[in-house]
Amino acid sequence: MYTLGEFIIENRDYFSYSTEELLRLFSSIKLASKAIHKEVNKAGLTEKIIGSSGITNIQGENQQKLDNFAHKAFIESFKSRNVVCGIASEESKDFIVINNKKENPLQNQYIVLIDPLDGSSNIDVNVSIGTIFSVYIRKSPIQMNVTIEDFLQRGNQQILAGYIIYGSSTILVYSIGNGVHGFTLDPSVGTFYLSHHNLSFPKEGKIYSINEANYTKFSNGIRKFIRYCQENKNKENRSYTARYIGSLVGDFHRNMIQGGIYIYPKNASYPEGKLRLIYECNPIAFLTEQAGGKASDGKRRILDIEPKKLHQRTPFVCGPTEMVSKLEEFMDNCG
Ligand code: AHG
Ligand code: MN
Ligand code: MN
Repeated sequence: MYTLGEFIIENRDYFSYSTEELLRLFSSIKLASKAIHKEVNKAGLTEKIIGSSGITNIQGENQQKLDNFAHKAFIESFKSRNVVCGIASEESKDFIVINNKKENPLQNQYIVLIDPLDGSSNIDVNVSIGTIFSVYIRKSPIQMNVTIEDFLQRGNQQILAGYIIYGSSTILVYSIGNGVHGFTLDPSVGTFYLSHHNLSFPKEGKIYSINEANYTKFSNGIRKFIRYCQENKNKENRSYTARYIGSLVGDFHRNMIQGGIYIYPKNASYPEGKLRLIYECNPIAFLTEQAGGKASDGKRRILDIEPKKLHQRTPFVCGPTEMVSKLEEFMDNCG
């Protein structure tokens, strides 16, 4: 059985930068995700993790205690490895500057973007949640502190993206541009082992994932696509099936393995969409394309969008290419 570390070394030629630095990045990600795994697995037993922190975050959303715990775990873990120069997180209004120039003059080039805890509404009810991460090379000179431009890069500049799903088991899924690979945590030894080599979307999907409670707030194109999913019959003469967890990571993970489309369109309550471009949609779009699928905002490729601000939202759709193209067709024709 391959460990994640062994797999990274075996595939080092696909990474254009230092293998040692990549291992350091993963060492931070593994450490924080194991700390979260540990807390999640005893969530029912402790008030420390269940419930709201009482804070409203920059998104205007009620921050959960685990959102805060996960944010701190990742920030501390990245800081301690001296390999990252800046972090943007869903739970922090501004980006965080990590000034490690003195100790580490050459290793000061990685920018990390994270959604530390995705699917917060599922924490207290024992349903799958996740972490999403994404890594870029800074654009500003290495001697300076990072600037906002380092964080507002197009998604097509990502050098590493992935997620951790804390589900029936804890799985880390990532890509450096040579396919998508998943590693399951064996909690008894605290090691991630290769369990899902070369994940890709099945060509024909039959799942659609959308919060249908917003139906009356959707555009005509989205409504018609939902109708199409309900009426269209596949080979077994049955219509598509609906699955929606309410955690992008969980919904995406299932859809990539079983074949399905995830849609979070704009609606009357979220006129620009709900999901955040740089630390939710871009990493998932990168993985989608690496898994042979397509990710768009209904019109444009997600990875080509130029971000204008840190917490920018966007409509989002990802899944098998044919399903996403079908949805875009409905949007073109009906708006
Ligand atoms: P987060 O917990 O990081 O704020 O993200 C929640 C997001 C996403 O994961 C999920 O798919 C979506 O919000 C669910 O939104 P609705 O409850 O509006 O369906
Ligand atoms: Mn999220
Ligand atoms: Mn979150």
